[in-house]
Amino acid sequence: MKVAIDGPAGSGKSTVAKQIAKKRNLSYLDTGAMYRSVTFTCLEQGIDLTNTKDVIAVAQSIDIRFEQGEAGQRVFVNDVEVTSQIRTAQVDQNVSTVAAIPQVREAMVELQRKSGEKIDVVAEGRDIGTVVFPNAEVKVFLTADASARAHRRAVEREGGNAAKQDVATDSVQEQQILEDIVRRDKIDSTRETSPLVPAFDAIHIDSSNLSVDEVCAQIEKLMDKAAAKKASELQTGATIDTSSVVEQQSVASKDTGELYYETKVQDFPLHARIFLKVLVVLCNAYTKLKYRWTIENLETLLTASANRGVVVIMNHVSFLDPFLPACAMILAGRSLRPIYKDDFNRFGILHWALPRLGAIPVARGTADIKALRRAQRALQKGESILIYPEGTRIRKPDQIPQIHGGFALMAKMAKADIIPMAIVGALDITPPGKHYPRPKKVYCRVGEPLSFKDIKAKGRKEQVVEMERVATQKMYELRDQLRAEHPGRK
Ligand code: DC
Repeated sequence: MKVAIDGPAGSGKSTVAKQIAKKRNLSYLDTGAMYRSVTFTCLEQGIDLTNTKDVIAVAQSIDIRFEQGEAGQRVFVNDVEVTSQIRTAQVDQNVSTVAAIPQVREAMVELQRKSGEKIDVVAEGRDIGTVVFPNAEVKVFLTADASARAHRRAVEREGGNAAKQDVATDSVQEQQILEDIVRRDKIDSTRETSPLVPAFDAIHIDSSNLSVDEVCAQIEKLMDKAAAKKASELQTGATIDTSSVVEQQSVASKDTGELYYETKVQDFPLHARIFLKVLVVLCNAYTKLKYRWTIENLETLLTASANRGVVVIMNHVSFLDPFLPACAMILAGRSLRPIYKDDFNRFGILHWALPRLGAIPVARGTADIKALRRAQRALQKGESILIYPEGTRIRKPDQIPQIHGGFALMAKMAKADIIPMAIVGALDITPPGKHYPRPKKVYCRVGEPLSFKDIKAKGRKEQVVEMERVATQKMYELRDQLRAEHPGRK
Protein backbone atom coordinates (compact mmCIF):
# COMPACT_ATOMS: atom_id res chain seq x y z
CA MET A 1 0.00 0.00 0.00
CA LYS A 2 1.12 3.53 -0.69
CA VAL A 3 0.09 6.33 1.63
CA ALA A 4 0.69 9.87 0.35
CA ILE A 5 0.78 12.68 2.89
CA ASP A 6 1.10 16.13 1.38
CA GLY A 7 0.83 19.54 2.94
CA PRO A 8 2.65 22.76 3.77
CA ALA A 9 5.69 23.10 6.03
CA GLY A 10 5.01 22.35 9.67
CA SER A 11 1.58 20.79 9.18
CA GLY A 12 2.79 17.71 11.05
CA LYS A 13 3.41 15.46 8.05
CA SER A 14 6.73 14.07 9.27
CA THR A 15 5.59 13.24 12.78
CA VAL A 16 2.42 11.61 11.54
CA ALA A 17 4.05 9.77 8.62
CA LYS A 18 6.81 8.37 10.85
CA GLN A 19 4.35 7.20 13.49
CA ILE A 20 2.13 5.46 10.96
CA ALA A 21 5.07 3.86 9.17
CA LYS A 22 6.36 2.47 12.45
CA LYS A 23 3.02 1.23 13.68
CA ARG A 24 2.00 -0.36 10.38
CA ASN A 25 5.45 -1.58 9.47
CA LEU A 26 5.73 0.43 6.24
CA SER A 27 8.77 2.23 4.87
CA TYR A 28 8.93 5.96 5.40
CA LEU A 29 9.96 8.31 2.63
CA ASP A 30 10.75 11.91 3.56
CA THR A 31 10.90 13.69 0.19
CA GLY A 32 11.48 17.10 1.79
CA ALA A 33 14.77 15.73 3.16
CA MET A 34 15.83 15.06 -0.43
CA TYR A 35 15.26 18.66 -1.57
CA ARG A 36 17.02 19.74 1.62
CA SER A 37 19.98 17.48 0.84
CA VAL A 38 20.38 19.04 -2.61
CA THR A 39 20.15 22.53 -1.09
CA PHE A 40 22.67 21.74 1.65
CA THR A 41 25.13 20.22 -0.83
CA CYS A 42 24.91 23.26 -3.09
CA LEU A 43 25.45 25.64 -0.17
CA GLU A 44 28.35 23.57 1.08
CA GLN A 45 29.97 23.58 -2.34
CA GLY A 46 29.55 27.36 -2.53
CA ILE A 47 27.20 27.14 -5.50
CA ASP A 48 25.22 30.27 -6.21
CA LEU A 49 21.60 29.03 -6.12
CA THR A 50 20.61 31.38 -8.92
CA ASN A 51 22.99 29.44 -11.12
CA THR A 52 20.41 26.77 -11.93
CA LYS A 53 22.75 24.80 -14.19
CA ASP A 54 25.07 23.97 -11.28
CA VAL A 55 22.16 23.23 -8.94
CA ILE A 56 20.66 20.84 -11.52
CA ALA A 57 24.04 19.12 -11.90
CA VAL A 58 24.12 18.50 -8.14
CA ALA A 59 20.55 17.15 -8.16
CA GLN A 60 21.29 14.83 -11.05
CA SER A 61 24.41 13.34 -9.50
CA ILE A 62 23.61 13.33 -5.78
CA ASP A 63 23.52 10.06 -3.85
CA ILE A 64 20.98 10.30 -1.01
CA ARG A 65 20.55 7.44 1.42
CA PHE A 66 18.26 7.01 4.43
CA GLU A 67 18.98 4.78 7.42
CA GLN A 68 16.67 4.05 10.31
CA GLY A 69 18.64 4.74 13.50
CA GLU A 70 17.75 4.54 17.20
CA ALA A 71 16.89 8.23 17.32
CA GLY A 72 14.96 8.23 14.06
CA GLN A 73 15.84 8.50 10.42
CA ARG A 74 19.41 9.41 9.43
CA VAL A 75 20.20 11.05 6.11
CA PHE A 76 23.44 10.52 4.16
CA VAL A 77 24.66 12.40 1.12
CA ASN A 78 27.44 10.66 -0.76
CA ASP A 79 27.94 8.50 2.37
CA VAL A 80 28.42 11.45 4.74
CA GLU A 81 25.77 11.97 7.39
CA VAL A 82 23.84 15.24 7.00
CA THR A 83 20.85 14.53 9.28
CA SER A 84 21.14 17.74 11.31
CA GLN A 85 22.86 19.88 8.67
CA ILE A 86 19.79 19.75 6.37
CA ARG A 87 17.55 21.24 9.08
CA THR A 88 19.33 24.56 9.63
CA ALA A 89 17.71 27.96 9.14
CA GLN A 90 19.98 28.54 6.15
CA VAL A 91 18.65 25.43 4.39
CA ASP A 92 15.09 26.40 5.40
CA GLN A 93 15.54 29.76 3.73
CA ASN A 94 16.89 28.40 0.47
CA VAL A 95 15.20 25.05 -0.10
CA SER A 96 12.06 26.43 -1.78
CA THR A 97 14.16 28.11 -4.47
CA VAL A 98 15.92 24.83 -5.21
CA ALA A 99 12.69 22.81 -5.12
CA ALA A 100 11.12 25.15 -7.67
CA ILE A 101 13.63 24.20 -10.39
CA PRO A 102 11.82 21.78 -12.74
CA GLN A 103 14.92 19.67 -13.53
CA VAL A 104 15.69 19.31 -9.82
CA ARG A 105 12.14 18.07 -9.28
CA GLU A 106 12.43 15.66 -12.19
CA ALA A 107 15.59 14.15 -10.71
CA MET A 108 14.08 13.88 -7.21
CA VAL A 109 10.77 12.44 -8.42
CA GLU A 110 12.65 9.77 -10.34
CA LEU A 111 14.59 8.80 -7.19
CA GLN A 112 11.42 8.84 -5.11
CA ARG A 113 9.51 6.62 -7.52
CA LYS A 114 12.41 4.21 -7.71
CA SER A 115 12.76 3.93 -3.96
CA GLY A 116 9.03 3.42 -3.41
CA GLU A 117 8.32 1.38 -6.53
CA LYS A 118 7.98 -2.09 -5.14
CA ILE A 119 7.39 -1.48 -1.46
CA ASP A 120 4.66 -0.39 0.91
CA VAL A 121 5.48 3.13 1.87
CA VAL A 122 4.25 6.22 3.67
CA ALA A 123 5.64 9.12 1.67
CA GLU A 124 5.38 12.74 2.71
CA GLY A 125 5.97 15.89 0.73
CA ARG A 126 4.15 18.38 -1.47
CA ASP A 127 3.44 16.46 -4.67
CA ILE A 128 3.21 12.82 -3.59
CA GLY A 129 -0.50 12.39 -4.32
CA THR A 130 -0.41 14.51 -7.48
CA VAL A 131 2.90 13.57 -9.13
CA VAL A 132 5.06 10.99 -7.36
CA PHE A 133 2.45 8.34 -6.55
CA PRO A 134 -0.82 9.49 -8.19
CA ASN A 135 -2.23 5.99 -7.69
CA ALA A 136 -1.56 5.90 -3.96
CA GLU A 137 -4.37 4.06 -2.19
CA VAL A 138 -4.58 6.71 0.52
CA LYS A 139 -3.98 10.40 -0.09
CA VAL A 140 -4.06 12.93 2.69
CA PHE A 141 -3.62 16.68 2.48
CA LEU A 142 -2.58 17.80 5.94
CA THR A 143 -2.91 21.47 6.81
CA ALA A 144 -2.76 23.65 9.91
CA ASP A 145 -2.85 27.39 10.66
CA ALA A 146 0.44 29.10 9.81
CA SER A 147 0.83 30.14 13.47
CA ALA A 148 0.33 26.57 14.73
CA ARG A 149 2.90 25.36 12.21
CA ALA A 150 5.41 28.06 13.19
CA HIS A 151 5.03 27.14 16.86
CA ARG A 152 5.73 23.46 16.16
CA ARG A 153 8.84 24.29 14.14
CA ALA A 154 10.07 26.66 16.88
CA VAL A 155 9.63 23.94 19.52
CA GLU A 156 11.49 21.44 17.33
CA ARG A 157 14.34 23.85 16.70
CA GLU A 158 14.75 24.39 20.44
CA GLY A 159 15.00 20.63 20.89
CA GLY A 160 11.50 20.17 22.34
CA ASN A 161 8.72 17.81 21.44
CA ALA A 162 6.29 19.54 19.09
CA ALA A 163 3.69 16.85 19.68
CA LYS A 164 3.29 18.10 23.27
CA GLN A 165 0.97 21.00 23.83
CA ASP A 166 1.83 24.22 25.73
CA VAL A 167 5.61 24.21 25.19
CA ALA A 168 7.04 27.76 25.49
CA THR A 169 9.40 29.10 22.79
CA ASP A 170 11.50 32.16 22.04
CA SER A 171 8.84 34.46 20.59
CA VAL A 172 11.25 36.42 18.36
CA GLN A 173 12.50 33.23 16.77
CA GLU A 174 8.93 31.92 16.41
CA GLN A 175 7.93 35.13 14.63
CA GLN A 176 10.86 34.71 12.22
CA ILE A 177 9.86 31.11 11.58
CA LEU A 178 6.27 32.21 10.95
CA GLU A 179 7.43 34.74 8.36
CA ASP A 180 9.62 32.11 6.72
CA ILE A 181 6.75 29.61 6.64
CA VAL A 182 4.40 32.12 5.02
CA ARG A 183 7.08 32.99 2.45
CA ARG A 184 7.79 29.32 1.69
CA ASP A 185 4.09 28.46 1.43
CA LYS A 186 3.81 31.15 -1.20
CA ILE A 187 6.78 29.91 -3.23
CA ASP A 188 5.74 26.25 -2.92
CA SER A 189 2.16 26.83 -3.96
CA THR A 190 2.77 29.25 -6.81
CA ARG A 191 5.78 27.65 -8.47
CA GLU A 192 5.19 26.50 -12.04
CA THR A 193 6.21 22.85 -11.64
CA SER A 194 4.18 20.64 -9.28
CA PRO A 195 2.93 23.42 -7.01
CA LEU A 196 1.63 22.51 -3.58
CA VAL A 197 -1.98 21.68 -4.44
CA PRO A 198 -4.10 18.88 -3.02
CA ALA A 199 -4.79 15.90 -5.27
CA PHE A 200 -8.46 15.91 -6.26
CA ASP A 201 -8.99 12.67 -4.34
CA ALA A 202 -7.04 13.65 -1.22
CA ILE A 203 -8.76 13.73 2.14
CA HIS A 204 -8.13 17.08 3.85
CA ILE A 205 -7.23 17.00 7.52
CA ASP A 206 -6.68 20.20 9.48
CA SER A 207 -4.30 19.37 12.31
CA SER A 208 -4.37 22.80 14.04
CA ASN A 209 -6.44 21.49 16.93
CA LEU A 210 -5.75 17.78 16.70
CA SER A 211 -3.16 15.73 18.53
CA VAL A 212 -0.71 13.57 16.57
CA ASP A 213 -2.60 10.45 17.71
CA GLU A 214 -5.89 11.86 16.48
CA VAL A 215 -4.46 12.63 13.02
CA CYS A 216 -2.83 9.19 12.83
CA ALA A 217 -6.09 7.54 13.82
CA GLN A 218 -7.92 9.28 10.97
CA ILE A 219 -5.30 8.22 8.45
CA GLU A 220 -5.22 4.65 9.71
CA LYS A 221 -8.98 4.49 9.31
CA LEU A 222 -8.55 5.49 5.66
CA MET A 223 -5.87 2.85 5.25
CA ASP A 224 -8.14 0.17 6.70
CA LYS A 225 -10.95 1.23 4.42
CA ALA A 226 -8.69 1.17 1.36
CA ALA A 227 -7.33 -2.25 2.31
CA ALA A 228 -10.86 -3.61 2.84
CA LYS A 229 -11.97 -2.25 -0.51
CA LYS A 230 -8.97 -3.77 -2.24
CA ALA A 231 -9.60 -7.13 -0.59
CA SER A 232 -13.26 -7.17 -1.55
CA GLU A 233 -12.42 -6.20 -5.14
CA LEU A 234 -9.90 -9.03 -5.32
CA GLN A 235 -12.49 -11.41 -3.98
CA THR A 236 -15.16 -10.38 -6.44
CA GLY A 237 -12.66 -10.26 -9.28
CA ALA A 238 -13.51 -6.63 -9.99
CA THR A 239 -10.82 -4.40 -11.42
CA ILE A 240 -9.05 -2.36 -8.81
CA ASP A 241 -9.32 1.30 -9.41
CA THR A 242 -6.73 2.54 -6.96
CA SER A 243 -7.32 6.14 -7.86
CA SER A 244 -10.86 6.16 -6.60
CA VAL A 245 -10.54 4.48 -3.25
CA VAL A 246 -11.16 7.62 -1.30
CA GLU A 247 -12.80 9.51 -4.10
CA GLN A 248 -16.47 9.19 -3.15
CA GLN A 249 -15.92 10.87 0.17
CA SER A 250 -13.61 13.60 -0.99
CA VAL A 251 -15.01 14.73 -4.31
CA ALA A 252 -18.57 14.55 -3.10
CA SER A 253 -17.80 16.83 -0.20
CA LYS A 254 -16.00 19.48 -2.16
CA ASP A 255 -16.61 22.13 -4.77
CA THR A 256 -17.78 20.49 -7.96
CA GLY A 257 -15.21 22.03 -10.26
CA GLU A 258 -12.06 23.09 -8.49
CA LEU A 259 -10.47 19.70 -8.13
CA TYR A 260 -11.03 18.71 -11.75
CA TYR A 261 -9.19 21.77 -13.04
CA GLU A 262 -5.96 20.73 -11.34
CA THR A 263 -6.07 17.04 -12.14
CA LYS A 264 -5.09 15.36 -15.38
CA VAL A 265 -8.16 14.14 -17.22
CA GLN A 266 -6.72 10.62 -17.29
CA ASP A 267 -6.55 10.71 -13.48
CA PHE A 268 -10.18 11.81 -13.01
CA PRO A 269 -12.31 9.50 -10.89
CA LEU A 270 -13.70 6.53 -12.77
CA HIS A 271 -17.27 7.89 -13.03
CA ALA A 272 -16.03 11.13 -14.65
CA ARG A 273 -13.84 9.23 -17.12
CA ILE A 274 -16.79 7.02 -18.09
CA PHE A 275 -19.05 10.07 -18.43
CA LEU A 276 -16.53 11.75 -20.75
CA LYS A 277 -15.94 8.65 -22.88
CA VAL A 278 -19.65 7.90 -23.31
CA LEU A 279 -20.42 11.50 -24.23
CA VAL A 280 -17.57 11.62 -26.73
CA VAL A 281 -18.57 8.35 -28.41
CA LEU A 282 -22.21 9.45 -28.69
CA CYS A 283 -21.37 12.96 -29.88
CA ASN A 284 -18.89 11.65 -32.39
CA ALA A 285 -21.37 9.15 -33.85
CA TYR A 286 -24.27 11.61 -33.97
CA THR A 287 -22.39 14.60 -35.39
CA LYS A 288 -20.45 12.48 -37.92
CA LEU A 289 -23.69 10.98 -39.17
CA LYS A 290 -25.53 14.26 -39.34
CA TYR A 291 -22.81 16.68 -40.46
CA ARG A 292 -20.30 14.28 -42.07
CA TRP A 293 -17.50 16.42 -40.67
CA THR A 294 -13.86 15.88 -41.41
CA ILE A 295 -10.69 17.34 -39.93
CA GLU A 296 -7.97 17.72 -42.50
CA ASN A 297 -4.39 17.32 -41.26
CA LEU A 298 -5.61 15.85 -37.97
CA GLU A 299 -2.37 13.87 -37.95
CA THR A 300 -0.43 17.14 -37.47
CA LEU A 301 -2.40 17.84 -34.31
CA LEU A 302 -2.06 14.29 -33.01
CA THR A 303 1.68 14.24 -33.61
CA ALA A 304 2.27 17.65 -32.04
CA SER A 305 0.25 16.72 -28.94
CA ALA A 306 1.66 13.21 -28.55
CA ASN A 307 4.26 14.06 -25.93
CA ARG A 308 3.44 17.60 -24.85
CA GLY A 309 0.54 19.95 -24.52
CA VAL A 310 -0.33 22.37 -27.32
CA VAL A 311 -2.68 25.34 -27.47
CA VAL A 312 -5.25 24.82 -30.23
CA ILE A 313 -6.99 27.97 -31.45
CA MET A 314 -10.01 27.97 -33.71
CA ASN A 315 -12.56 30.37 -35.17
CA HIS A 316 -15.95 30.09 -33.48
CA VAL A 317 -19.32 30.07 -35.23
CA SER A 318 -21.52 27.53 -33.47
CA PHE A 319 -21.99 25.34 -30.40
CA LEU A 320 -20.86 22.40 -32.50
CA ASP A 321 -17.29 23.74 -32.86
CA PRO A 322 -15.64 22.38 -29.70
CA PHE A 323 -17.07 18.90 -30.14
CA LEU A 324 -15.19 18.19 -33.35
CA PRO A 325 -11.57 18.60 -32.22
CA ALA A 326 -12.46 17.28 -28.75
CA CYS A 327 -14.01 14.07 -30.15
CA ALA A 328 -11.13 13.53 -32.57
CA MET A 329 -8.47 14.10 -29.91
CA ILE A 330 -10.09 12.13 -27.10
CA LEU A 331 -10.86 9.15 -29.34
CA ALA A 332 -7.20 9.18 -30.36
CA GLY A 333 -6.22 8.96 -26.69
CA ARG A 334 -5.22 12.61 -26.25
CA SER A 335 -6.54 15.07 -23.77
CA LEU A 336 -8.01 18.37 -24.97
CA ARG A 337 -9.29 20.81 -22.39
CA PRO A 338 -11.61 23.51 -23.77
CA ILE A 339 -11.58 26.95 -22.21
CA TYR A 340 -15.14 28.19 -21.66
CA LYS A 341 -16.61 31.45 -20.43
CA ASP A 342 -17.53 31.17 -16.77
CA ASP A 343 -21.01 32.63 -17.49
CA PHE A 344 -21.97 29.03 -18.29
CA ASN A 345 -21.34 28.11 -14.66
CA ARG A 346 -24.59 29.91 -13.80
CA PHE A 347 -26.41 26.88 -15.19
CA GLY A 348 -26.30 24.14 -12.56
CA ILE A 349 -25.96 21.24 -14.95
CA LEU A 350 -23.15 22.91 -16.91
CA HIS A 351 -21.36 23.89 -13.72
CA TRP A 352 -21.41 20.21 -12.80
CA ALA A 353 -20.68 18.75 -16.22
CA LEU A 354 -18.09 21.05 -17.81
CA PRO A 355 -15.31 20.49 -15.25
CA ARG A 356 -15.92 16.75 -15.54
CA LEU A 357 -15.34 17.05 -19.26
CA GLY A 358 -11.98 18.64 -18.56
CA ALA A 359 -13.09 22.16 -19.46
CA ILE A 360 -11.56 25.17 -17.68
CA PRO A 361 -13.60 28.36 -17.04
CA VAL A 362 -12.33 31.84 -17.79
CA ALA A 363 -13.76 35.16 -16.64
CA ARG A 364 -14.03 37.18 -19.81
CA GLY A 365 -13.04 40.81 -19.95
CA THR A 366 -10.54 40.41 -17.12
CA ALA A 367 -6.95 39.23 -16.86
CA ASP A 368 -8.01 35.90 -15.37
CA ILE A 369 -4.70 34.78 -13.89
CA LYS A 370 -6.30 31.78 -12.21
CA ALA A 371 -7.51 30.43 -15.56
CA LEU A 372 -4.14 31.16 -17.17
CA ARG A 373 -2.32 29.26 -14.44
CA ARG A 374 -4.70 26.33 -14.63
CA ALA A 375 -4.22 26.11 -18.38
CA GLN A 376 -0.47 26.47 -17.96
CA ARG A 377 -0.35 23.62 -15.46
CA ALA A 378 -2.47 21.39 -17.70
CA LEU A 379 -0.15 22.14 -20.64
CA GLN A 380 2.89 21.36 -18.54
CA LYS A 381 1.36 18.02 -17.62
CA GLY A 382 1.11 17.23 -21.33
CA GLU A 383 -2.57 18.07 -21.84
CA SER A 384 -3.69 20.29 -24.71
CA ILE A 385 -5.93 23.33 -24.51
CA LEU A 386 -8.65 24.39 -26.94
CA ILE A 387 -9.42 28.09 -26.96
CA TYR A 388 -11.47 30.44 -29.09
CA PRO A 389 -9.63 33.75 -29.45
CA GLU A 390 -12.82 35.35 -30.78
CA GLY A 391 -14.31 34.80 -27.34
CA THR A 392 -17.84 34.37 -28.56
CA ARG A 393 -19.54 32.81 -31.59
CA ILE A 394 -19.26 34.96 -34.71
CA ARG A 395 -22.72 34.68 -36.20
CA LYS A 396 -22.25 36.82 -39.33
CA PRO A 397 -19.46 36.07 -41.81
CA ASP A 398 -18.61 39.78 -42.18
CA GLN A 399 -18.60 40.51 -38.45
CA ILE A 400 -15.23 41.85 -37.25
CA PRO A 401 -14.26 39.81 -34.21
CA GLN A 402 -12.44 41.17 -31.21
CA ILE A 403 -9.46 38.94 -30.53
CA HIS A 404 -8.69 37.95 -26.93
CA GLY A 405 -4.96 37.36 -26.71
CA GLY A 406 -4.83 35.19 -23.57
CA PHE A 407 -4.01 32.13 -25.65
CA ALA A 408 -0.57 33.40 -26.64
CA LEU A 409 0.31 34.26 -23.05
CA MET A 410 -0.86 30.81 -22.00
CA ALA A 411 1.40 29.20 -24.59
CA LYS A 412 4.32 31.41 -23.61
CA MET A 413 3.91 30.63 -19.90
CA ALA A 414 3.84 26.89 -20.57
CA LYS A 415 6.43 26.98 -23.37
CA ALA A 416 3.85 25.29 -25.61
CA ASP A 417 3.30 25.48 -29.35
CA ILE A 418 0.14 26.95 -30.83
CA ILE A 419 -1.81 25.04 -33.46
CA PRO A 420 -4.18 27.11 -35.58
CA MET A 421 -7.34 25.41 -36.75
CA ALA A 422 -10.40 26.54 -38.70
CA ILE A 423 -13.99 25.45 -39.14
CA VAL A 424 -16.32 26.26 -42.02
CA GLY A 425 -19.91 25.16 -42.60
CA ALA A 426 -21.04 25.01 -38.98
CA LEU A 427 -22.85 28.34 -39.31
CA ASP A 428 -25.00 26.85 -42.08
CA ILE A 429 -26.35 24.29 -39.63
CA THR A 430 -28.24 26.84 -37.54
CA PRO A 431 -28.07 30.11 -39.45
CA PRO A 432 -29.16 33.25 -37.56
CA GLY A 433 -32.90 33.14 -37.00
CA LYS A 434 -33.13 29.35 -37.32
CA HIS A 435 -33.43 27.12 -34.27
CA TYR A 436 -33.36 23.57 -35.61
CA PRO A 437 -30.04 22.22 -36.86
CA ARG A 438 -29.91 21.32 -40.56
CA PRO A 439 -27.78 18.44 -41.83
CA LYS A 440 -24.95 20.24 -43.64
CA LYS A 441 -21.39 19.09 -44.15
CA VAL A 442 -18.80 20.73 -41.91
CA TYR A 443 -15.11 21.16 -42.74
CA CYS A 444 -12.16 21.63 -40.38
CA ARG A 445 -8.49 22.07 -41.16
CA VAL A 446 -5.43 21.96 -38.91
CA GLY A 447 -2.46 24.23 -39.60
CA GLU A 448 1.22 23.78 -38.81
CA PRO A 449 2.38 24.20 -35.19
CA LEU A 450 3.68 27.69 -34.36
CA SER A 451 6.56 27.93 -31.94
CA PHE A 452 7.80 30.92 -29.99
CA LYS A 453 11.27 29.88 -31.09
CA ASP A 454 10.37 31.09 -34.59
CA ILE A 455 9.06 34.45 -33.41
CA LYS A 456 11.50 37.23 -34.17
CA ALA A 457 10.32 39.85 -31.64
CA LYS A 458 12.53 40.58 -28.63
CA GLY A 459 11.16 40.77 -25.10
CA ARG A 460 8.46 38.63 -23.54
CA LYS A 461 5.58 41.05 -24.04
CA GLU A 462 6.49 41.79 -27.67
CA GLN A 463 6.78 38.07 -28.41
CA VAL A 464 3.34 37.39 -26.98
CA VAL A 465 1.80 40.18 -29.04
CA GLU A 466 3.57 39.00 -32.18
CA MET A 467 2.56 35.37 -31.59
CA GLU A 468 -1.04 36.44 -31.09
CA ARG A 469 -0.94 38.30 -34.41
CA VAL A 470 0.74 35.49 -36.37
CA ALA A 471 -1.42 32.70 -34.93
CA THR A 472 -4.67 34.58 -35.49
CA GLN A 473 -3.60 35.39 -39.05
CA LYS A 474 -2.86 31.70 -39.72
CA MET A 475 -6.22 30.70 -38.26
CA TYR A 476 -8.04 33.08 -40.61
CA GLU A 477 -5.91 31.97 -43.56
CA LEU A 478 -7.08 28.40 -42.95
CA ARG A 479 -10.69 29.54 -42.65
CA ASP A 480 -10.44 31.55 -45.89
CA GLN A 481 -8.87 28.58 -47.71
CA LEU A 482 -11.80 26.41 -46.64
CA ARG A 483 -14.31 29.06 -47.65
CA ALA A 484 -12.66 29.37 -51.07
CA GLU A 485 -12.70 25.58 -51.55
CA HIS A 486 -16.35 25.31 -50.46
CA PRO A 487 -17.95 28.40 -51.95
CA GLY A 488 -20.99 29.72 -50.15
CA ARG A 489 -20.26 27.83 -46.95
CA LYS A 490 -19.95 29.84 -43.75
O1 DC B 1 8.79 19.13 4.22
P1 DC B 1 10.08 19.99 4.31
O2 DC B 1 9.88 21.29 5.03
O3 DC B 1 11.23 19.23 4.79
O4 DC B 1 10.36 20.39 2.77
C1 DC B 1 11.44 21.19 2.43
C2 DC B 1 11.15 21.93 1.14
O5 DC B 1 11.13 21.05 0.06
C3 DC B 1 9.84 22.72 1.13
O6 DC B 1 10.10 24.09 0.98
C4 DC B 1 9.13 22.25 -0.09
C5 DC B 1 10.04 21.30 -0.78
N1 DC B 1 9.40 20.04 -1.11
C6 DC B 1 8.82 19.93 -2.35
O7 DC B 1 8.82 20.89 -3.10
N2 DC B 1 8.28 18.75 -2.74
C7 DC B 1 8.28 17.70 -1.91
N3 DC B 1 7.73 16.55 -2.33
C8 DC B 1 8.85 17.81 -0.63
C9 DC B 1 9.38 19.01 -0.25
